[in-house]
Amino acid sequence: EEDRTLNPPREYNDFVSTLPLEEGWVLTHLRECQGFWFSSFMLAGVMAVRQRLKPRPDDLFLMNHPKTGTTWLKALTFAIMTRSHHPLLSRNPHDCVLYLEGSFAVGEASRIEAATPPRIFSSHIPYSILPDSITGSDCRMIYVCRDPKDVLISWWHYRERMRPETMELFCEGRCNYGPVWEHVLEFWRESRRRPEKVLFVKYEEMLEEPVGSAKRLAEFMGCPFSPEEEKEGVLEDIVRLRSFENLRNLEVNRTGRRKIPVYGVMNASLFRKGEVGDWRNHMSPEMARRMNEITQEKLKGSGLIL
Ligand code: A3P
Repeated sequence: EEDRTLNPPREYNDFVSTLPLEEGWVLTHLRECQGFWFSSFMLAGVMAVRQRLKPRPDDLFLMNHPKTGTTWLKALTFAIMTRSHHPLLSRNPHDCVLYLEGSFAVGEASRIEAATPPRIFSSHIPYSILPDSITGSDCRMIYVCRDPKDVLISWWHYRERMRPETMELFCEGRCNYGPVWEHVLEFWRESRRRPEKVLFVKYEEMLEEPVGSAKRLAEFMGCPFSPEEEKEGVLEDIVRLRSFENLRNLEVNRTGRRKIPVYGVMNASLFRKGEVGDWRNHMSPEMARRMNEITQEKLKGSGLIL
């Protein structure tokens, strides 16, 4: 899998090259499309999702802004859906639940088509950019969000170096799939409008109450834990085996390497600290205050507190 040849769809290149450009990031240039920023490479995948994905009504979509807990949510929902521990012992969660626009972007639409139902896919596409085939369907979505300060800190450890521009770009929303606030708000509003189809969860609450959160996920997914399963501790096992420490210590996640669009990363980089509030170790009080103010201002009146 490491040596997969990239074969991105080229039919969107001309259109993408006309979109506003942001060159401030170290590792990638971004393009703006309908108020959100994407790498050019991923934007081709986003467009392919819009045009080519054929959702099934029983598909489950894991949605979020990057660095808010994708890997964890993939592991939990995959284990809940399959009630199986095996695949996740030897495979990274990203190899069990496919990244929609990423798969299209590297020319692997066939892997999406070959997935057998019930299918779980993940995506970072903002709600307003998702195709009607998903938003107008019966498909369920789970959205996870996280304190934007921790999102930024997680992101710059993962990919970018903190430079004076880094936080500025993030605050302006000129970051991968940004602005994070609008990303969250779109799904928040939709979760209030259609709670039976869009479940909104917070990373912080999942960490605080993992068993209750997993139970809620299972109920929403339509595969709740039976009284027998609860008695046998199936729910607790799923949560324990998917905990940060457990996932991080698996051989595949300690030493494995994965090729994600454009570059390769060590699986270990997906398991850094897994804590709430690590921003305190990296941000000055002024930086934190600035971000809090933006969050309060953006979320004002929405009923959502981050
Ligand atoms: P930190 O960088 O703050 O440690 P994503 O999967 O969306 O890329 O998000 C990565 C973040 O989720 C990282 O945060 C990572 O440590 C954390 N994470 C990964 N697995 C986790 C788990 N099982 N429980 C809690 N956090 C987890």
